Amino acid sequence: MSSQIIPVEPFDYVVFGGTGDLAERKLLPALYHRQLDGQLTEPTRIIGASRSHLTHEEYRKFADEALKEHLKPGEYDADQVKTFCDRLYYVSVDAKSDNGWKQLRDLLDEGKDRVRAFYLAVAPAIFGDISERIRDNKLITKSTRIVVEKPIGRDLASALELNDTIGKVFHEEQIFRIDHYLGKETVQNLMALRFANALYEPLWNSAHIDHVQITVAEAVGLESRAGYYDKAGALRDMVQNHILQLVCLVAMEVPPSMNAESVRDEKLKVLRALKRIDASNVEKATVRGQYKAGASAGGPVKGYLEELEGGVSNTETFVAIKAEIDNWRWAGVPFYIRTGKRMAERMSEIVITFKPIPHSIFDDAAGRISQNQLVIRLQPNEGVKQSLMIKDPGPGGMRLRNVSLDMSFAEAFNARSADAYERLLLDVIRSNQTLFMRRDEVEAAWRWCDPILKAWDETGQPAQGYTAGTWGPSQAIALIERDGRTWHES
Ligand code: BG6
Repeated sequence: MSSQIIPVEPFDYVVFGGTGDLAERKLLPALYHRQLDGQLTEPTRIIGASRSHLTHEEYRKFADEALKEHLKPGEYDADQVKTFCDRLYYVSVDAKSDNGWKQLRDLLDEGKDRVRAFYLAVAPAIFGDISERIRDNKLITKSTRIVVEKPIGRDLASALELNDTIGKVFHEEQIFRIDHYLGKETVQNLMALRFANALYEPLWNSAHIDHVQITVAEAVGLESRAGYYDKAGALRDMVQNHILQLVCLVAMEVPPSMNAESVRDEKLKVLRALKRIDASNVEKATVRGQYKAGASAGGPVKGYLEELEGGVSNTETFVAIKAEIDNWRWAGVPFYIRTGKRMAERMSEIVITFKPIPHSIFDDAAGRISQNQLVIRLQPNEGVKQSLMIKDPGPGGMRLRNVSLDMSFAEAFNARSADAYERLLLDVIRSNQTLFMRRDEVEAAWRWCDPILKAWDETGQPAQGYTAGTWGPSQAIALIERDGRTWHES
C-alpha cells in the first residue's frame, strides 16, 4: 500500500545555510525524495544561499555529493539526481552586508508568482539580519513564508526577543517554526490513534490511565557539536521542544478539527497546565546526568568531559523529569520523561500504562494480571503495540498471559519510512501550519523550562555520572521506582 501523492504548486525554496550540515544531511535529501515521488512540479527551484563563494555548478556538485552520501542504498537514481540538480541554484549572500542580495533578488524575480519560502538553517543570532534584508530587498511577496529552526532562544527572554525580531518583518501566518519531531510518522499516528478510533478516547484520562512514559534515547554522543551542546544541555536541546510537543499530543483535548489553530490552541492549554517545577521541588522531580566513558555500538567511547577535551562542565547530557498536568483530565497521572545521549540504544517511545483491573475473578494459579500498555514506537521500527491479557492456549486450568498486538509500520505497509523533513518542507509550501509551533507555544514551553533551569542553578543540582551505553543514572530509575513503577523495557 502506498500513500496518495498530491503534487504541490511550483515554488522557490531559498535555503540560507545552503552549504551547511542540515541542508546536506536532511533538506536536500528530503526534497530529492519528494521529487522521486512526483510531488514537485515545474519550474520548482531550490536556491542555496550562504557566505561561501560557489557557482551554480559547484553547488550542484555539492548536492550530488550530499545525496550520494546521505541517501540509502538504491535511492540514488542518476537521471533523477540530474533533474534534481538542474533545479538547484546558488547565491553567495552575506547576512551582515548588502553583498549578494541584488543577485538573489534578480534570481527570485524570475519566479515572482511562485510560492516563495526562505529556510533559515543558520545560527539564530542572524535570524534578525536575514529577515530585515529579505524585507529591505523587497523579497516578500503575497505567498512568502519563512521557516526557522530551533533553538528558538535559550530561555524565555531570548525567545521573546527572537520572536519579536522575526515578527517585525513577517506575520505569524508566514512564520513556520519547525520541530522535526512533529513530522515523524508515529507522532502523527498518535493523533490518528486517538481521534480516528472509538476505542481509546473514552479511556484517555485519569480514571483509566495510570501514568505515561516518554523516552527519547540516543546512542550518539556530542557529534562535534560541543560548542552548541555544552551551552544548551538536554533540557534545552530536547525537552523544551521535541518532548514537550510529544506531551502535548498525548495530553491535549480533542481539537474541533485538524485545522492548525484548533490543534495549536489545545497544545497550548497543555503547556499552560504543566505543574511548575522550581527550587521547592526540583530535586524530587528531576534528575540530571552526564555520561562517563563506556561502550556504545560494541566499541569503547569517551566520556562527555573527555569529548570536551579536558573541559570542566556540569551540563546535563541526560534528564529525567516527573511532570504533572494540572487539569481535570490528567490530575494525578504522572508523565515520566527521559532523554539522553550515549544511552544503551537509539530508541524513542511513548508508553501509556492503563490502571489495573478493579477486581480479579481468577485464582492465584492464573498468574499475575499485568496492566494494559499501549506503546507508540517513534524510532527505530516505527509502530504501535497494545498489550492484552489472554488465556494461555490449551486444556487444563485457566492461566493468563500478557501478549502484544504488535504492528510495525514498515512490515504492515511495506513502505519506506519517510524522513520528518519531507512532510514538513512541503507543508510550508502548502501553507499548512498544523505541525509547526506557534509563537505562544514556544514561549509557554520556555515558561515551564525556565524555573527548572533557574532551580538547577540555585540548588547546584549536580549532573550524576552514568556509564555510556546504559539507561542513565541510577537516580533516574529511583525517580520512577519511588512511585512503585518501572521504566518500560522494549
Ligand atoms: C535535535 C537535537 O533537535 O534532535 C539533537 O539538537 C538530537 O541533539 C536530534 O540528536 C534527535 O533527532 P532524531 O530525529 O535523530 O531523534
